[in-house]
Formats: sequence, C-alpha cells, structure tokens
Amino acid sequence: MRTIDDLRVAGQRVFVRADLNVPLSGDTITDDGRIRAAVPTISRLAEAGARVLVASHLGRPKGAPDPAYSLAPVARRLGELLGQDVAFATDTVGPSARETVAGLGEGQVALLENLRFNPGETSKDDAERAAFAEELATLADLYVGDGFGAVHRKHASVYDLPQRLPHAAGGLIATEVGVLRQLTDEVKRPYAVVLGGAKVSDKLGVIEHLLTRADRILIGGGMAYTFLKAQGHEVGSSLLQEDQLDTVRGYLDRARELGVEFVLPVDVVAAPGFPDLVAKTPTSPTTVSVDDFPADLMGLDIGPRSCELYVSKLADAATVFWNGPMGVFEHPDYAEGTRAVAQGLLDSSAFTVVGGGDSAAAVRQLKFDENAFGHISTGGGASLEYLEGKTLPGLAALED
Ligand code: 3PG
Repeated sequence: MRTIDDLRVAGQRVFVRADLNVPLSGDTITDDGRIRAAVPTISRLAEAGARVLVASHLGRPKGAPDPAYSLAPVARRLGELLGQDVAFATDTVGPSARETVAGLGEGQVALLENLRFNPGETSKDDAERAAFAEELATLADLYVGDGFGAVHRKHASVYDLPQRLPHAAGGLIATEVGVLRQLTDEVKRPYAVVLGGAKVSDKLGVIEHLLTRADRILIGGGMAYTFLKAQGHEVGSSLLQEDQLDTVRGYLDRARELGVEFVLPVDVVAAPGFPDLVAKTPTSPTTVSVDDFPADLMGLDIGPRSCELYVSKLADAATVFWNGPMGVFEHPDYAEGTRAVAQGLLDSSAFTVVGGGDSAAAVRQLKFDENAFGHISTGGGASLEYLEGKTLPGLAALED
C-alpha cells in the first residue's frame, strides 16, 4: 500500500477521504475524536503545499441534503484543530464544491458537504456509484484514503474514487491497519476479547472468527442477555434476541469444545425501565444475581461481582481487544461496568486495543486518558470486519 510519502503533493489538489462521522447534539459535536484523528494527515499534506479537499459522510441521510446531517459544524471544529480556516462547500459536486476547490491555495484546506447527500455515494448500483465517483474525480488530482471508520463500506468515495486517481493511504489508515494486524497475524497470548453493545446479531461474524483465535471472550452490554437466556437464565424484560438463541447456544458449545473461556455476567444492575439519557434523571437501580432475575426488571449494566470477574480475566492477558460498552454508560447509574472494564484494560499489562464507536466514545466520556490505551481505533464496524478477516473495499482499493 502506497503512503503519502510516495505522492508528490505540492501544488496538487488532494482529495482526502476522512471519517468525520462524529456524534452531534443539534449542531454541537459531543465527541470530536474522529476529527482529531484526521488532523495529522491533513496537516502534513497542507504543510507539504497541497491544496487539501477533505470529504466525509455524517450519519445516514437518505441520499438528499438534510440540514440535520450537515458537516458545517465539523468544518468549524476542523479549522480550530488545524489552526487555520477551513473553507466549506455547501454541496458535494455542485457549483459550491467547484468554486471552493478553485479558490484553494497551496497549504489551504476545504471540506465538502456530506457525501451521503448524493445518492451515488452509497448506491448498490455500480454505475450510479461510478457516475458520482467520476464527478468527484474532477475536483482533485490525487486521492488519499484516510477514513478508516468507513473502509468496510463499498461506497463511491471509499471504493470507486481511488480507482480513478493516483492514490495512497493516509497515516491514520496505516496506523490502524498496523495495530489490527497485531491482533490477527501475530497475537500475543493470552488473548482476551471483551464484546458488548446492544445486539448479538451485530457481532455474529466476529464471534465466529474469534472462537478459533481468542483464549477468552467476555460478554457484556445488551447482547449478554441473549447469552444468559441461552444458558437457561431468566432475564426479565432485558433486551433479548430470541431468534439468535440457537446460534448463541452453538457458540457456547463450540467454545467448550475448543477450550475457549466464555465469560458472562454473574450479576447485573437492573431497573424497571430504560433510563432517560437526555435529562439523565436519577433512577432506582437494583443489583440482581443472574440466578434470581425478577421478571419485571431490565438489565442495564453488569454488576459489581461481574466487574471483579471481568477485571480478573484481563489482569494477566497479553492482548486485549474491547468493542462495545458493558451497559448504558451514557447514564451515570449504569456506567460502572464500562468504567470498570476500561480501568481493567489500563491496569493490565496487556497490549490494549479499543475498537471504535461506542467504546471509544465511552472512554472519552468517562474521562479516561486516551493515551494510556495501546490504541483506540476510529473504526467500530470497520475494526470488527477487519478482525473477521473480511476484505474491506476501502483497503482493497488502496492496494494496487
Ligand atoms: C461508523 O460510524 O462506524 C462509520 O463512520 C461508518 O458509518 P456507517 O455505519 O453509517 O456506514
């Protein structure tokens, strides 16, 4: 894979496909981690005299402009972090984009509006994606792929555009791939994986893959209740994917055969209903044993005995990969499990990788020092698919 060192960028219009898909509340960015992660490559290109045209998606608009998903707040934040003005094009390949690119001087930076405002970006139709990629290609001379969080998407700006311009991988993609390779090709053991998040159906591929690779798999979050039910426990009104019970039973059986340790909560923090994440009004949480789960309660976090158990399973690991919170960490009453696991990663001497998305946001929201972790990935789905061993379109397109 070529890197930006292999490109002559001075004076050239360089299209940087970043992943600036950050959480917003109105037009306030609640976690700017992905913008900060994009800065080093953009700065390097600008310092080398490139005319830098940054592009990204934000959220999942329906292929048409939608002010709720505008990248305008991101352009402002990117400018603050770069310490220079970032011109903002109010469309993707229209008059504003063309005028903005034409006005870019050497070392200057601009951001296009949300690529997903154009239906060609995410289209499943190859011709429609290609047509959008052709239009994007007219805006630039060179392409730098640096949006690791989106490399698992076969989208026009990720997959089709690099095939139309001389291209290279940016520093973020190079770092992410280097780290994830350590979890696949040359993992140091014991290898512990902590998986959380709401739905087990989102993690099937990675669990399948890890069954033959990890030494321990620790399960938390909403998906834990499907595992607990599969083991014969009652789970009250907790999140449950009935249609996955057989699959999950199969995993537990195979793990036993393969000698992989599956660790499930032994107690949970529960309440009668889901907490209000906006007002964050105090609730009345109760800790219950998984052997004695009241029918009218919903599990919302792993309990204190589970925290101790999970931390003990991380303590002597040599490698830990963590993806997905242990509970509803956005509410203070249900954040302790996620906090304990994050602290467990820090206290272990293992090489620790936090898979992006919610777990990365949790680390920052709970005020952990990000630099204390081995690596915090900017890719949630992308890092999981990489670990599954899938071919990622955005990496494949940068290979040749
Ligand atoms: C992410 O948030 O995982 C990436 O930005 C990809 O977003 P998507 O799941 O909407 O494609």
